[in-house]
Amino acid sequence: MTRVFSGIKPSGDLHLGNYLGAIRHFVVDQHVHDSLFCIVDLHALTVPQDPARLREHTVDLAATYLAAGLDPSVCTLFVQSHVPAHAELSWLMECTVGFGELRRMTQFKDKADAADFTSAGFFTYPALMAADILLYRTDRVPVGDDQRQHLELTRDVATRFNGRYGDTFVVPEAAVAGVAARVMDLQHPTVKMSKSAVSPQGTVLLTDPPEVIARKFKRAVTDTGTEVRFDPATKPGVSNLLSILAAITGKDPRELADGYTQYGPLKADTADAVATALAPFQARHAELTADPAQVGAVLEAGAARARELAAGTLARAKAAVGLLAPEGS
Ligand code: TRP
Repeated sequence: MTRVFSGIKPSGDLHLGNYLGAIRHFVVDQHVHDSLFCIVDLHALTVPQDPARLREHTVDLAATYLAAGLDPSVCTLFVQSHVPAHAELSWLMECTVGFGELRRMTQFKDKADAADFTSAGFFTYPALMAADILLYRTDRVPVGDDQRQHLELTRDVATRFNGRYGDTFVVPEAAVAGVAARVMDLQHPTVKMSKSAVSPQGTVLLTDPPEVIARKFKRAVTDTGTEVRFDPATKPGVSNLLSILAAITGKDPRELADGYTQYGPLKADTADAVATALAPFQARHAELTADPAQVGAVLEAGAARARELAAGTLARAKAAVGLLAPEGS
């Protein structure tokens, strides 16, 4: 069976773009592939975090996944720091990847220039990500377009390691979400909806109650003219609403456009569709939030399976580079 691995940072409120672009597909994938979903708390530490909030976000992300339909009896949901092999293999990856390769990562270049403090961990972030993936002999990594370069680096590092030390890792394929999976900000429809707090009115959170969803869609920026047409280049606002409605109803955005002559009804219908689609998720999320022990038990079982899967690859990699195994192991 194909092994799928994906990692998600516990950095706060998830939004509609995360749901339609990623989580929804994970829920389908879990029945087809042997799937591991990792809450990458070590990656979150590459930028300053408030400790209490990091812990909260970690539990909340797990609750979000479970509420969205990930089923711990078919997939493995776990927290990265619960499996020490990630940090351990990361060191071997740091010693395999080149300084120059890390320096060329666009995500590092873009963010390091803007920040007043850049940790060394932020620089070596892709080595830890490679470790995440390679530990589980992953075949396929579903990621957003922004992670394509990190995936390429993972493939290069795996190939280099295998070439130097003998066949150890599976070289994974990226499964990059298509443009259709991109949900844009409701206030700035040419940029992706994101969890950064730059545009709270343009971001629909998965926990927003129906009246907040209705308000955000009502105030969504539309385009000049009055015609409802699916054309992301010249009508990004209206096209984003049509894409969202299409993603939820499973219909074609162009056909949906034919059903509207004004923006108002399209906004109202899209808000209704989103609120209805999120209602069962929100009910389940509230239940799980009230029962953190249940979430904890799922994460504990997930970590136990992950530790078991990771141990073999880690031991092989350590032996391959020449680390002496301790007596009696
Ligand atoms: N770097 C990814 C992001 O920012 C998160 C991540 C960490 C990841 N480890 C991973 C994604 C392994 C896929 C596989 O979104």
